[in-house]
Amino acid sequence: MKKHKVVVAGKVLPVALDVLQQECELHVWQQAEAMPPDLLYDWIKDAQGLFATNKIQVNEELLAHAPQLKVIAQAAVGYDNVNIHACSAHGIPFANTPGVLVEATADLAFGLILCSARRIAQGWEWVKEGQWASGRALPLGIDLFGKTLGIVGMGQIGAAVARRAQASGMKVIYHNRSRRRDEQEMKASYVSFDELLQVSDFVLVLVPLSAESKGLFGREQFRKMKPSAYFINAARGAIVDAQALYEALRDQTIAFAAMDVTDPEPIPTGHPLVRMPNILITPHIGSATVETRTEMALLTAKNILAGLAGKPLLTCVNSEANYK
Ligand code: DGY
Repeated sequence: MKKHKVVVAGKVLPVALDVLQQECELHVWQQAEAMPPDLLYDWIKDAQGLFATNKIQVNEELLAHAPQLKVIAQAAVGYDNVNIHACSAHGIPFANTPGVLVEATADLAFGLILCSARRIAQGWEWVKEGQWASGRALPLGIDLFGKTLGIVGMGQIGAAVARRAQASGMKVIYHNRSRRRDEQEMKASYVSFDELLQVSDFVLVLVPLSAESKGLFGREQFRKMKPSAYFINAARGAIVDAQALYEALRDQTIAFAAMDVTDPEPIPTGHPLVRMPNILITPHIGSATVETRTEMALLTAKNILAGLAGKPLLTCVNSEANYK
């Protein structure tokens, strides 16, 4: 029997390729830069499966080049590079990888809070630069104990960060489009977006990027925060107006920012934000652990195999297009 053709549009862990190639004919783009759309359109024209990455755009144009496509899956929870309505209109189910990356991403988000509050990265720079030996003191950090963490976008990752914050003696409040039924269990109180900005010592953003959340944090939002506030972004760079953040840090409208995501990515080293003394940026490593990335890769491979067999994807985003 002829094997299904699957296009893998970027670097993925070999463990996923091993699983897929037992049943599929793989066409793998292994280079670091994004796959050129023309080449992708050429490869996809007779493919039944697509292992997407967030470096490609899954849009109407791509789908129009892929008449045989039965399934698309991506090893990430975010899918702002995917036009879900277009996938559904073409009858193609799309799967992401929720769940498996919750704890790793929560560790990183809480790590940004702890690392910025306690100047951990700055301290290491200080040591390397010989400042410790010079006798000058590293600027003091702040306690987490007794502080308020405001989480914007309280999903599974938010709840996992809340547990970590509570273990450090922080109070947790949150804002979501809809209030969670389990907030008592979570020991987190729901507040309006404005109240969260006004009272939080740490504002953590975890909302997905959408037309609604693009630029959600701008001048007005930073002005509402405390001058002592720490702003943490572990979601997507474009949720923040980078110029407004730069001004807020420069003018000390807020105290500090820590971000695992930027817009653009990678952020150029000459970008004004990179030069600020009161910022910490990590290179989008929320889920970047051996265990979690392995689970994400395997789940994506399983979703592709399910779709090729006409079976329900395990973690389908557009359930209306999923196989029954
Ligand atoms: C995710 O899973 O969405 C991570 O941010 C990686 O893109």
